[in-house]
Amino acid sequence: MPGPRFTDIRRFDSIDSTNRYLLDEARGGAPEGVVAVADHQSAGRGRLGRSWEAPPGTNLLLSVLLRPDLPAGHRHLASAAVALAGSDAVEAVTGLRLGIKWPNDLIGPDGRKVAGVLAEADVADPSARGGRPSAPIVVGIGMNVNWPAADSDLPPDLVGSATSLHRLVGRTVDRSRVLEALLGALEPRAADLGSESGRARQSADFRARCTTIGTSVRVELADDRFEGRATDLTAEGHLVVVVGDRTRTVVSGDVVHVRPGDRPSPPAV
Ligand code: BTN
Repeated sequence: MPGPRFTDIRRFDSIDSTNRYLLDEARGGAPEGVVAVADHQSAGRGRLGRSWEAPPGTNLLLSVLLRPDLPAGHRHLASAAVALAGSDAVEAVTGLRLGIKWPNDLIGPDGRKVAGVLAEADVADPSARGGRPSAPIVVGIGMNVNWPAADSDLPPDLVGSATSLHRLVGRTVDRSRVLEALLGALEPRAADLGSESGRARQSADFRARCTTIGTSVRVELADDRFEGRATDLTAEGHLVVVVGDRTRTVVSGDVVHVRPGDRPSPPAV
């Protein structure tokens, strides 16, 4: 059952973006814990300016408003908490244990993406400036529950990289059960964000479930691109990558797990 924090659940048949909705609500002073769930989004947002799409009535499209008492630099732990809760929920409902590909993608045993997480803060909100405690963070998760049912459902650019719970477990999965389990699992994780020991617990869980650690990665930043070996996460949830004799810490960006035989990418120009 959802805990006391996430009881104000606002459901939409259709909306542009549940993240956009909660950012507006946060600006109006909405408290921590408001949840927005949509059956369909007409302008769903993905990471790095991408869009997020799913046919109506198929997948879980959900955002939560958090106001965690987080020290500067620890914001990644808020999105990690939602990714971890998503993974908890999938395991509780289907028995399937998903990994987390850094920064926040939930992936199946075949390495394909089942869910993505997008955290957004309103820089125009005076309480958000400087990452002060209790500044609002909206964290959205889009989980492919029943779509795609087959590769033929997907746009060509997602074939081979996206999958769904339906495909992984071979049956239709009840979205409302996943939603309820996710909010229940998020309750203690969100509470953890407000204390040092709690944050250490979330970091440890993130590290334990992060499938990026120990793999060769190609890191794609806005203005740089490099390859190396991902060796660890920092306490803040950032990715530690060994590149030759240097160690780099990646705070944000895209990471590709490089498989043996993949050709190295040309340097960014
Ligand atoms: C990613 O690019 O991997 C992140 C995708 C996040 C999508 C979710 S769906 C619910 C919420 N509302 C949005 O507009 N985006 C997030």
